[in-house]
Formats: sequence, C-alpha cells, structure tokens
Amino acid sequence: MQHNSLNSDLFKLGSYINGEWITKGGDTFNITNPADESLVCTLHNATAQDAEAAVAAAYAAMPAWRAKTAKQRAQIMRRWFELCMQHQDELAAILTAEQGKPLAEAKGEIAYGSSYLEWYGEEAKRVYGDTIPGASRDSRIIVVKEPVGVVAAITPWNFPNAMLARKVAPAVAAGCAFIVKAAGETPLSALALAELGTRAGLPPGIFNVIATNRSREVGAVLTGDKRVAKFTFTGSTEVGKTLLAQCATTVKKTSMELGGNAPFIVFNDADIDEAVKGAMTSKYRNAGQTCVCTNRILAQKEIYAEFAEKLTAAVAALSVGAGTNPNVDIGPLINAKASISVAEMVESAIADGATATIGGNKSEVGPCFYPPTVLTNVTSQMRLSTEEIFGPVAPIIEFETEQEAIEIANNTRVGLAAYLYSRDIGLIWRVSEALEFGMVGINEGAISNEMAPFGGVKESGMGREGSKYGLDDYLEIKYLCMGGLTS
Ligand code: SIN
Repeated sequence: MQHNSLNSDLFKLGSYINGEWITKGGDTFNITNPADESLVCTLHNATAQDAEAAVAAAYAAMPAWRAKTAKQRAQIMRRWFELCMQHQDELAAILTAEQGKPLAEAKGEIAYGSSYLEWYGEEAKRVYGDTIPGASRDSRIIVVKEPVGVVAAITPWNFPNAMLARKVAPAVAAGCAFIVKAAGETPLSALALAELGTRAGLPPGIFNVIATNRSREVGAVLTGDKRVAKFTFTGSTEVGKTLLAQCATTVKKTSMELGGNAPFIVFNDADIDEAVKGAMTSKYRNAGQTCVCTNRILAQKEIYAEFAEKLTAAVAALSVGAGTNPNVDIGPLINAKASISVAEMVESAIADGATATIGGNKSEVGPCFYPPTVLTNVTSQMRLSTEEIFGPVAPIIEFETEQEAIEIANNTRVGLAAYLYSRDIGLIWRVSEALEFGMVGINEGAISNEMAPFGGVKESGMGREGSKYGLDDYLEIKYLCMGGLTS
C-alpha cells in the first residue's frame, strides 16, 4: 500500500548522526502500518557503533551550542516550532502511517509536541540563578545554572513526536546536545523532527536520532557511555528499572516517565454528563494507549448505574477503523500482540464476573484493533484493575465511601495521573491531597500541556516534563563562593 507520506521530503530512511543521514551499509528493518500490517518502509538499522558515533558527535558539538546566548538558541527553537506547524499535515501523515492513530489526533499530537519547542525556546531566556548572603561579611554566595551535559533519551511509540519533543526541547534550550533512540516501531516521526530542526538552524551533532530495532545494544551504549551526563526515558516501569540500573554504573542524572494505573473517581454529587465527557477524553485518547489514560473508573454507588449507562451510550457512538479515514475515532493498537493482550485481560475479567455493556469481543476490523469496551461489575482484584490496560477498555468499579475510593485508588505501586469528579470543594481538596499521584485532573479529563509539570511518583518515575520545572531536569546548579570582598 502506498502512503502519501512517502512522497514527503521529511520522510527519511535512516539515522541522523552529526548532521548526516546514515542510510547505507549494514542490515535493515521494517516499519509496518498497524491499520493493515502493510509495509510502510525499510530503514537502515543502526548499530552500537552508530550510537557511539552519535555520542561522540554530541559531545564534540555541545561546547559551541552552550556558548550561544539563550536568545540565539531561542530564535532557532522558534523557527523549529514554526516549521513543524507549517508541516503539520505532512508530519501527521507520517505519524499515522507508522503509529496508526486517526489523522486528527496525529495533527493534535504535532501541535502538542511543537508547543514544547515554542515554550522551551521562551524558557531558555529565563534560566535565573540566585545571590545568597554569605557566611561572612566579605563573602557572597552566587548560584548559577549550567547545562547538565550530553543528554541521551529513549522515547516510546505511543506519541512518536510529542514524547520526543518534550525531552529535546528543554535539553537544547538549556544548551545540551541530544541523542535519541526512537522506538523501533515509530522512528519516522523522530527523523522528520530532526530534518526540521536542521532546517531551523540546529548545528550538526546537537540533535542526533538513532533508528534501530537493536534496542538493548543501543540502550547499553546510551546508558553506559561516560560522556552522556543525563539519561531520560518514557516507557514501561519494567524497562525503566533496567535502564536506571544501567545508568547507576556511571551515576547519570536521570528522569523517568514510566507506567501508570490512573483511577477516575466519580462521586455521587458529580455532574454525570461532564464526568462521562472527561472519561471519554481520558480513556479513549490514542485508543487507550497513554500512560495517563484512565485505567480504572471508580463510580460511587448512587450514580454507578447512571454513569455506566451514559458512558456506554457515548462509547457506542465511537467509530473504529484506519487512522486515514476522517470519520474514525479509534485507530488500531500498535500491533496484533497488543490487541491479544487487551483481549486476554477482558476475557479474564468476564470469566471472573464482569459484564461487557459494549464491546468485549474480537474486532472485525483487523488483527491490531480492539473494540471500545465498557465493563461493569469490575473488582479491584481483577488483572485489568492492577495492570496497565493500554487499550480502549473502561472497567467500572463500585465504591461506597470517600475513604474507600482513596484506598482503592492508592492501592498500586505506580502514581502518575488520577482524576476525580465532584462539586464539593471540601471533598475535592481532601481527596486531591490524599491521592498518591503526580497529577490530578479535577473535573477535567485532559491534563497534558506544555505549561504543566507532567510526571509521577512511586514507580511511575522521577522528574517532570513541561513547565518551568521541566527545565531543571536539564540543568545543574553550581555554587560560587566569592570571598575577599571587603579587604
Ligand atoms: C504518555 O503516555 O506517556 C504521555 C501522554 C501525555 O503526554 O498526555
């Protein structure tokens, strides 16, 4: 199947290292379109040696980049943002071809990812230090912030543009050079972003992209090389723990955006129609494949039936199909294995007493698809309550008291996002403060944007992405003790 995105000059077929496209020599790997499992393209498959070359290039390029003024870096980032928005349709077409999400969502992701380039270009100019009264009359304490050093990243397939943009943007804004190993399923969006960065004026070696399916080999270089000062990862908690252990040998600064198990709590006094709207947004975005997607809906006893009925009606209106079809709301999952895993969780819940009010069966659209599903009579012991579903399935658990909701919500080792719906201001404060999560959506299902600090607690990771706080993850504090001032 021929994709229009193949005609774009943003469509690249190999890694981008030190300002050069590596497309020849060695072996290759395939990118397939999850909508129909057709071949999108065959790419040069980068090796550990390519990753070492990228680290060397970044290390050599960084001094000149950090020596630029923040304003000079900001001007390049502004151009980069503008170019991405000018090429939004092309970037979205590439993203849909490799990842599957509906084109409208892909366009939204390009705008979302680009917003980090814009925001951090602006923030680059606001990296302020401090002066602190000294320990003696003739001394002063000065605090300056410096770029952390070469940054290496591994980014996921669920947001091939935005999860990368929100790492590379603060890194280059701070004055760091950057290397990413993009997800093996979806490297094309990362390569297109690099092309636009170069057109905007990023010097060779500042943004290097490794396209490969040799994740372990390349990951070992990026986490083990002494020249890499900081490592950042978005992906599963399990892989994050392995990468963290690898980073320990060279004591890298790390930030980790790992798995979630978001509770979505609807109290008796909530505006039920608004809660349904919020649940639709937070559950079915990207076919349920985000770390902040609602994983467990907790509905209070009095409104449980009404909420389940209204949610089922809203889900019935969703259409499923290839992302290139403009009428589609839910695209495929990333591959057939993912849809089998979701199906197994649903089947096991049904075997244990859950009821599918809609969906819950095999999709007729194709092997990578799973139908949007709502399950009632779910308990917090079922597998889909304890594990990340990463699919379009909404399990609804009943609870009676505020305390019970808090206990169910917090009964997990991860703590990324949580949501709650209520009109009682006292309850909202009490529950928000009791929730052991990094982010809480209050009467709001869409919480991600470049202005806000995205990140989790417990085994959901460490560090924040976005907002003024996100820049700190790419900076080191240096304290200058100035003495001899009065003699
Ligand atoms: C994620 O799934 O890791 C992030 C989703 C988002 O940025 O909202």
